[in-house]
Amino acid sequence: MAQQRHTTNSLAIDVNGMQFDNPFVIGSGPPGTNARSIARCFDAGWGGVVAKTCALSDTPVINVTPRYGKLRSAKANEVIGFQNIELISDRPFEDWEADFRELKASYPDKILIASLMESFHETRWVELTKRCVAAGVDGFELNFSCPHGHPETGMGAAMGQNPMMVEAVTRWVKAAAGNKPVWAKMTPNITDIRVPARAAFAGGADGVSAINTILSIIGVDLQTLRPLPTVEGYSVPGGYSAQAVKPIGLRMVQEMALDRPGAAISGIGGVWKSADAIEFLLLGASTVQVCTGAMLLGYEMVEELIDGLDKFMTDHNFANVRSLVGASLPYFTTHHHLVELQEQKRAATAAARSRDLRWGQTRLQDETAAITSNE
Ligand SMILES: Cc1cc2nc3c(=O)[nH]c(=O)nc-3n(C[C@H](O)[C@H](O)[C@H](O)COP(=O)(O)O)c2cc1C
Repeated sequence: MAQQRHTTNSLAIDVNGMQFDNPFVIGSGPPGTNARSIARCFDAGWGGVVAKTCALSDTPVINVTPRYGKLRSAKANEVIGFQNIELISDRPFEDWEADFRELKASYPDKILIASLMESFHETRWVELTKRCVAAGVDGFELNFSCPHGHPETGMGAAMGQNPMMVEAVTRWVKAAAGNKPVWAKMTPNITDIRVPARAAFAGGADGVSAINTILSIIGVDLQTLRPLPTVEGYSVPGGYSAQAVKPIGLRMVQEMALDRPGAAISGIGGVWKSADAIEFLLLGASTVQVCTGAMLLGYEMVEELIDGLDKFMTDHNFANVRSLVGASLPYFTTHHHLVELQEQKRAATAAARSRDLRWGQTRLQDETAAITSNE
């Protein structure tokens, strides 16, 4: 059963009626790919899990190997970027239904979110949603954002880049989900993420998640001239994640948070340490998802996330997680205003300096007397 870590503060947060015992959620991907791995997330102390994306069983999903590539820093050889060309779950949907039932029976208090992807057919989305509701999941995340493989057949990011489709699918799922909350997972492979986010909310979404991976080419083998990862001599562009994508994730969360104050946002992208997760919270996320970090550091990384957030809340006197959500947003302004602020500061400094410069023009005693209050 799930371990409860001792903390000075309560890290619990209610998002769309889902009671997370901490805001740290496993993002959809390999860390939550079947009941066994999801149970390990809960046992390690994660507040929730978004399962690997599933579809109805007749959706063809055939993965290739190798399907990952790493970008390392030049000096320390640390993994800073990660690319995958992995598809959604290749498991039959019936297996997922059994897994969801088993997990909710064993972990009734942990939050289990089903991630769904389908073609643009209402009946398919509705069937998938209703069967997940019957299997007991707590909520939904709609994968409008996988950038490789499925977009070739009009799914994933191909839908996420089309606001009309985002709105329609969200509406279909919302109508079939009963009282279960629905988050729409946004693609960063778009000029303005606020446009599909607005479409999701127009379709009834309870929240949005961002970011999914960024379309990328991790490198080229200079011996063979073949792009990476190479499968039988060929490759395709894939999805970029890990530490290098955090600044882009933070910016997109900030944009959506400012566009729709108070919206439920699940922040994702490059979270390695508690400091990264806290940044997402400060910019408007109320939960923070981790995928690649868990793949490379292990499920236990959540211990540092929990301890680090607990300490941060104590040091900064935050009574609960909700009170730090979006706390840094008021400190964004326009560039024009930054220039104005800088000019005001320069003028004030110059004025102070010029006052000091006036000394020495008359008798020192008179100058002293001139600024003495009780002369
Ligand atoms: C190997 C791999 C597989 C992924 N599979 C899925 C998926 O099935 N569904 C989904 O919505 N996102 C998937 N993602 C995207 C992640 O959930 C996450 O949005 C992205 O990787 C950025 O976060 P990170 O830097 O913490 O990994 C996958 C990511 C990786 C690295």
